[in-house]
Parts: sequence; C-alpha cells; structure tokens
Amino acid sequence: MSTLVGREAELERLLGVLDDALDGPSAAGHTLAALVSGDAGIGKSRLVSEVAAIAGDRGVTVLRGHCAEIGDSVPYLPFADALRGVRLPPAKAAALAEAVRKRPVLARLLPDGSGEQDTAADRSGLARQQMFGAVLGLLSELAEQAPVLLILEDLHWADASTRDLLTFLSRMLHHERVVVIITYRTDDLHRRHPLRAVVADLARLSAVTLVELTPLPPASMTELLSSLQNGPAPSPQSAAILNRIVERADGNPYYAEELLASASAAGPLPAELVPSGLAALLLSRVERVSEAAQRVLRAAAVEGRRADDDIVRAVVRDVADLADPDYDAAVRELVANQLLVPDQVDAEREAGAGYAFRHALLREAVYNDLMPGERTRLHARLAALLAQRGPKTPGMAAQLAHHSLASHDIPGAFTASIKAGKEAARLGAPAEAHRHYDQALALWDRVDDAEKLAGLPRGKLILRSATSAAFAGDVPRAVVTLRRLRDVLAEDGDAELRSRTGERLAYFLLQVDTPEACAEALRVARVTVRETPEEPPTTYRARAMATYALALMTSQGYGVALDWAQRAQAVATQASAPWVEAEALTTIGLLAVRAGQQEEAISKFTAAYEKADGTEMLSIELRAACHLARERLSRGELAEAARIAHIGVRRADDEGLRLAPYGLDLQHLHFQAHYADGQWDHAQEVADSYAAHVTSQPEAVLSAMALFIEVARGNAAADDRRAWLEPFWKDEFVAFIARGLYAERALWQGDTDLALAEADASIAADNWPTHTPAVIRPTGIALSARADRAVLARASGDDPRAASEVAAAERLLQIATEGARYPSRPAVVLGPEARGWLARCQAEYQRASGKNDPGNWQRVLAEFSPGYVYETARTQWRLAEALAEAGRREEAAAAWEAAIATADKLGAVPLRAALDDLGRRARLDPHAADSGPPGSHAHALTGREQEVLRLVALGKSNREIAAELFIAPKTASVHVSNILGKLGAASRTEAAAIAHRQGLGS
Ligand SMILES: Nc1ncnc2c1ncn2[C@@H]1O[C@H](COP(=O)(O)OP(=O)(O)OP(=O)(O)O)[C@@H](O)[C@H]1O
Ligand SMILES: [Mg+2]
Repeated sequence: MSTLVGREAELERLLGVLDDALDGPSAAGHTLAALVSGDAGIGKSRLVSEVAAIAGDRGVTVLRGHCAEIGDSVPYLPFADALRGVRLPPAKAAALAEAVRKRPVLARLLPDGSGEQDTAADRSGLARQQMFGAVLGLLSELAEQAPVLLILEDLHWADASTRDLLTFLSRMLHHERVVVIITYRTDDLHRRHPLRAVVADLARLSAVTLVELTPLPPASMTELLSSLQNGPAPSPQSAAILNRIVERADGNPYYAEELLASASAAGPLPAELVPSGLAALLLSRVERVSEAAQRVLRAAAVEGRRADDDIVRAVVRDVADLADPDYDAAVRELVANQLLVPDQVDAEREAGAGYAFRHALLREAVYNDLMPGERTRLHARLAALLAQRGPKTPGMAAQLAHHSLASHDIPGAFTASIKAGKEAARLGAPAEAHRHYDQALALWDRVDDAEKLAGLPRGKLILRSATSAAFAGDVPRAVVTLRRLRDVLAEDGDAELRSRTGERLAYFLLQVDTPEACAEALRVARVTVRETPEEPPTTYRARAMATYALALMTSQGYGVALDWAQRAQAVATQASAPWVEAEALTTIGLLAVRAGQQEEAISKFTAAYEKADGTEMLSIELRAACHLARERLSRGELAEAARIAHIGVRRADDEGLRLAPYGLDLQHLHFQAHYADGQWDHAQEVADSYAAHVTSQPEAVLSAMALFIEVARGNAAADDRRAWLEPFWKDEFVAFIARGLYAERALWQGDTDLALAEADASIAADNWPTHTPAVIRPTGIALSARADRAVLARASGDDPRAASEVAAAERLLQIATEGARYPSRPAVVLGPEARGWLARCQAEYQRASGKNDPGNWQRVLAEFSPGYVYETARTQWRLAEALAEAGRREEAAAAWEAAIATADKLGAVPLRAALDDLGRRARLDPHAADSGPPGSHAHALTGREQEVLRLVALGKSNREIAAELFIAPKTASVHVSNILGKLGAASRTEAAAIAHRQGLGS
C-alpha cells in the first residue's frame, strides 16, 4: 500500500469518531457513524484502510465487508464478508467466531454455514427481524470486550436487506462502543438511488460525521507519485512527466497511479499518446499483457471483482481454450502487471485461492469492453459451472440467476431465481426473496413446463412472493398481489391454495387496520372459510377459521367470533396443528377479557402459551405470552406479570426479536410491572436501555414508556427524550403515553397551563372512537391541575375563576367516567390501577370543588395500596394534606411520614419536594428547624413566621396565606403584624423588600 498522502483533516475527523468510541459508550446515546463518499478511485478505501490499521493497533475489533456490483442479488453480502473476520488477531477472531456460533442465523451467511436448516422464526415471517437482531446482538456482545469498528464499503451496490439492516443498526446502537464507517461512490449515486434515503436517514442522527473526499491537491499528488516504487528515476524528464500526470489526473489518485504505470511500462510517453479518460487508460494497460492473460482477465471480470481460481481456470479452459500451465503463467503475468492481486480473503478459505481486480474500476472497464457474444458465452459457462458445484456458499443461487439471465438462459434463470428466493427467505432477506420470486414469475410464460421446472404451481409462487413482500414490510403490495391471485384462482382449482390465499389476504388486510380494510378482511375470511372443504380437517382450514375469528373480533361480533375461534381450535386439534390451536386459544382468551371473564382469559392464555411452546412459531408464542402478562398486570398480579414478561423478553431477545411486535410489548410490560411494584432501580435499568434518540415507532414507544420513571424521579433525561419523541406525536399510542407523562412533569413543575395542554393531547389520543379506561390516567392529571388552580383562585377570593375551574373539572370527570365504562367493550372489568385512578379523579374533583374530604383519598388508597408502591405514596401525600386541612394533625403526620419514606426509597424527587412543601406549610415535620440562617433578620422570626413572610413577599393576601398554611385568616394577620414588628418594617411592602434582601422571598 502506498503511504497515505494528504487527507490529514479527513483522517483526523475519522479518528475523532473512533476516539469517541474508545472513550466508552457514546455519552450522547447515539450511534457513531461516518459516511465517506467521493468519486471512484478518489481514495475512500485507502483512507478507511488507514483508519482500520490505526484502530487495530489500538485494540479495536475491526470488521470490514464489501458490497459487490452484482451483490445486489446476494443479501447481506458486506455483513457476511465482515463476519469472516479476516485479518483479526487470533483472540479477536476466536471471540468473533464464538459470537457467530451462538447465533445460528448468522452462521448461515458464512460459506460453510448450515445452509439448509430452518429456524424458529422462518414460518412466522420473523426471519428478517431475527437476522437484524442477531447482528445487533453480535456487535453489542463484541463491543463489551473491545470497541468495534464496522466498515461497510461500496454501499452504492448494496442490496435492499443490507440497506435496511444498516438503518436498523444506526437506530439501535446507542450506548454500545461501536463505530460504523460506510463508503460509497458519489458519482454512482443518481437522484433516485435507494442509498440516498438511507444516507439521509443516517445524517439525521447527530453523531454522523460526513467525510466527502474531494480531489487531492497537486502537491499531494506529486508526493503520491514520487512515493510509488514503479515511478521513473528522478530526472528533469521524469519531472516533466510527473507534472503532466498530475495535471491530467485531476486530483484522482487512482487515475494518477494508472497513468504512471502506463507511462513507466511504455517508457516516457509524449502527452498525446496518453489515452484520455480513465476507462481507455485502463484498457490500454490491459492491451499490453499477453493475449492469454487478457482472456483470463475477461473471464475474471465476468465472475466479479473477486474471482475464484478454480472457476476462472475452468472457464478459460472451456471458453478460451487455455491449458492449465498457460493459465498459471497468464495469472502470474497479470499479478506482475498489477492488474490482479491475490485475494487475501479467499486465500484464507480452504475452498481455494482467488484473485481480485486491483481496483473495481478496472473490472468495470474490462467487463464493459467485452464483445456481446463473448460476454454471453462467459456468463453461460460460469452459470454451468456454478450449477455443477451446487449451493456451496450463500448467494450462489443468486449468482447463478444473474449469470443465466446475462447469458439469456431463461429456464436456467427461472429455476435459479426460485432457488435464490428460497435462499434469501432463509437468510432473513424477504425483500430479496420477493425480488427473486417476482423475477421468476416474470419469466414464467417464457419457460416450457414452468410448473415442473419450478416444482410448484404458479399460484403458490405468487403466494410466496406476496408473503415475502409482507414480511419485508410492504403489506400493501402483498394485499394487491393476493387480491389479484384470488381473482384468477378458479373455484374448482386447488382448494388448499385458494384457501391459503384467502386466509393470508384477510390476515394482511387486518394488519392494514383501516375500517375499509377490516371490512374487506371480514368478507374475504368468511368466503374463504365457506369455500374450504370441511373434510378432512386440515391445518389450512383451521387457520382460515382462526383468521375469520380474528376478523370477527375486530368487527365486534363477539359471540360469533368466539364460536369460530372454538371451532378453529377443535379443527386444529384434529389436524394436529398446535400452533393454530395456540392462535385460536389466544383469540378465545381475548374474547374472554372483553366479556369480563378474567379467570377464563388467564386460563386460555396460559393454555395457548403452553401449546405454542416448542412449535417454533415464535410470533404465536410471543403473542400468547404478551396477552398473559398484560392480563396479569391489569389484574394487579404484578409479580406474575413481571415473571411472564421477563421470560418472554428473554425469549424474544435470544431470537433477536426485541423490537418485533410482541417482543416490544413484552419489554414494556416487564418495565411497567416493576414501575408499579416499586422495584425502581431495576425499572430504571430497563428504562435506561430504551434509546432516547429514537427514529422509529417501536423505539418511540419504549422511550415514551421510560418517561414513567423519569418523570416520577424528576430526571432531566425526560426532557432529552422530548425532541426525539415529538415527530412521533402522530402515532396515537406514543402521543397518548408520552404527552400524558409530560403533563405530569409540567404539573410537578407547577406549570398548570402546560400540564393541561399536554393532558388534553393525551386524552384526545385515546378517542377511538369512544374513550377507554386508558383515558382515566391523563384525565386524573388534568383534574389535579384544575384542582390546584381552583384552590388558589378560591384562596385569593376569585370566586368566578374558581367556579370556572370546577366546571372544567366536571367535564374532565365525565371523560374519566366514560372511559371507565368502556363503551366499546362494556363488559371489561377494571383492574386495581384503573380503579385507583378513577377514585383519584373523583377525589381531585372534590378537591377542586373545595370539599377535600380525607375519605376521598382513603378510597383511592384502598385501591392502590399496598401493591402500587408509588401511587400509594402519592395518595398518602394528598391524604395528609386533606387530613391537615381537617385539623387531624396526627393522622396527617403519619400519612405524610409514610409517603416520605416511600418517596425516598424510590428516589421520587418531585414527590419528595411536594411532601417537604406540605410538611412546612402544615408543620407536619417534627424535625423541621425553627430558625432561619443566623445573623439575618430571619433569625428573629419563628419558622412559621418565616413561612408567612415568604408568602407576604410573594404578594399574597392574608386569606391566601391562611389557605396555603392551613390556618385561619385571623391567625395569618396576627403573624403578619408580629413580623412587621420584629423586622421594624412599616408595611407589607417593606417587609417584602427585607425578605427579598435576605433571600427569603424566593
Ligand atoms: N491519499 C492517498 N494516498 C496514497 N494513495 C492513495 C490515496 N488515495 C488513494 N490512493 C491510491 O489510489 C488508488 C485508489 O484509491 P481507493 O481504492 O481508495 O479509491 P476508492 O475511492 O475506494 O475507489 P472506489 O470507489 O472504486 O472503491 C489506490 O491504489 C490507493 O492506494
Ligand atoms: Mg474503494
């Protein structure tokens, strides 16, 4: 490698990113990434190699992978490449191998990986999430031992799955010591190139460093050329050549190197003989090697940037008629001429050595220069050889399809595309699977006996293509395709296919989740069940029935839904399909919840969970676990809820499914259980793992959940999360959770305007189409804000104001009551938490109305206590206040002390501050100091008088002071006179001024 010239600034910036990772987990909580871009040959790879070398010396684990030009059809190629850990020191290589071994999904990406086995997630459509999760898990695990530098090169050639995985990683790597550097060619990035969206996405993350490589300045170019060994000996003449090359190369080092090589090979060249343009220059170099060598180079160019020795040898033998000894000589010549280099990556594989083009641009030039006939012949020969070899390495089928297509071998391309589709599906790359299947479908009519070649009927292939699209996240596309398929399948045709098509269509329509889609789902599911033969009982019939039951449930037909779910369960049992049974049982459980039969629901969910166990249908298993944990939580069975959720989270984690639909729910159910039961240090740990800088909806859900504890503890992190959550306000669930909690935060900070605005937004997000019990909580916060205002208004004698607050509170109470009735599911039984909040709403309403009876708060306490630790303490705070108002001081002090103990144990800072305030005002704290700072006027004042003075300084009237301190207005006026006397102040204003000077007013 030539010494690196120029690029000092760029190198420094990249090393800065690396330093941040070495310093430890990124403090700001976001991925550290650098994007290195620039024209072909400008020096991206060279620069990154420098960084890699320095990083390696510093003990960083460097993983590097490249995309290939035809890699577009091989999923995850650069990751597969990186996982081979080429050039890692032995200890790191062993750690990598071990981390890969633990994750069988990843092993499939490797050459000798267990190619044919299916994993649990396959049939659930979770293979992609599983792959993503496995890569994330691997990187995090390695990063615990040493920082990781992941270099992904030439992303302009990346496949869709690689791009998605990259985006996923950049969103998910927040606290790990992982740096990602990607390179791509700017000149290849046309306006609609799919990488653009990815780059834009990455750039939105603040930790992304953009390094755009511009042409090297002439001085650096001269330095580069002089440092190259094959340059001419220094002489005036050579200086002139160098100058011409520098001028010509336009700051592109690769161009310069090639010009120099060309100049030295031919001896000093007059300027006009130097070909113009890089491609022409490269070809002129190729033309100087022997004809045999040129043939080898052409064959290698067709194979790709990296060429397998065995294959190229065989190709040239057959196509170019070159015997082995000649072949070897030709290869030696090409290496000597620096056109090919031995490929280290392949040399380390037992599979045999290989070569790489010294530069990708050279391969492109050679390939583009091929005569059409020769190109076709070479592709054809390559295809034949690959077909003979069988699917040894991942991506083989995709390559085969590529070569077959390029050699116009339609049947070959057809069968290979189907194989490639299956392989991509197994690798968790449904986007690629979909593409390959679609490619095969496009060729279907051009192949004789297509069904026999494919090994499956066209309809089944369409079905597969559509489900792949859905698994890749393109549900609308799946719906369109399946609708069309359903239309063309004849009613007297393959009953199973027709049934499965209808079932999947209905299922995906339910995921679209609009009223029209749900209505269509119901129609399709009904027809499908009707058309599916009853005898013999089959898995697909059971599944069609289970989906019909689901569709009925969404359209509120509970009785019928239950009937069909039970029938589905029975058929599934007969057909020995435990996973369909589990699916039906979960639906029956959900229907039981809605019918208010909680015991029944728990027993069905438990049964479903057990049935799903061992079926390898992860999404069904996690769905059952999730509903079981949720029901336990809702019933206040916190320990059991936490236990189930925890097991589920671990399972989802092991399979890399943390953020898949039910994995996500289990995560926050686990958190909520501990938030409720008061194990806050554990809950905090969990919340800390929820990224703050969120860029996707699932993450936003978790970040919103973390606010429960962060608001209750008064952590500043709650504010950090906000800016990142705001873009997700359009998501009703995120808005509902997050804004409800921001309302609470505003209330703790005494900002009732903001509290009401946020609570309103949260309440509005619950309206689907009538309120649900979820609305009770944010309504309770809004009521609390109204009550605070009403109390204040009343104390300051502003009765109209107080009345209007009470009226607003009354409207809120109606909303809470409607939510509690749950009009869309009236039979649902409220759990203790919902009942507790409802009682709190009533108590707050009474407080707003001036009837702050302790009995109201005791009723709240009866619901929350003792299981809901924090809510118990919060209620004791209000209870103590009400008791103090009622003059029941001893009871007040007891409730107050209990609340203090809990607030301290939990680290609930805002609650503790509110309790301190109450303690001072109501004189509940027996240990409170009774004097101010020595040497001040305040020294002469009693503790009570200081309290009063503070309020005087705030401009409060005697009546307001009385209300605030739980004393009679008359007593307040006596305190004020005493204060004026002690301070020698003539008026309240003067007393206020003294208080201000003494720092008592704030
Ligand atoms: N700053 C530099 N100092 C020394 N040599 C350099 C420098 N930049 C590039 N080179 C040399 O120029 C050639 C092309 O550089 P490189 O392969 O890094 O380009 P690239 O930007 O990665 O191109 P591509 O887009 O085709 O991958 C290499 O031989 C490299 O060693
Ligand atoms: Mg490069």
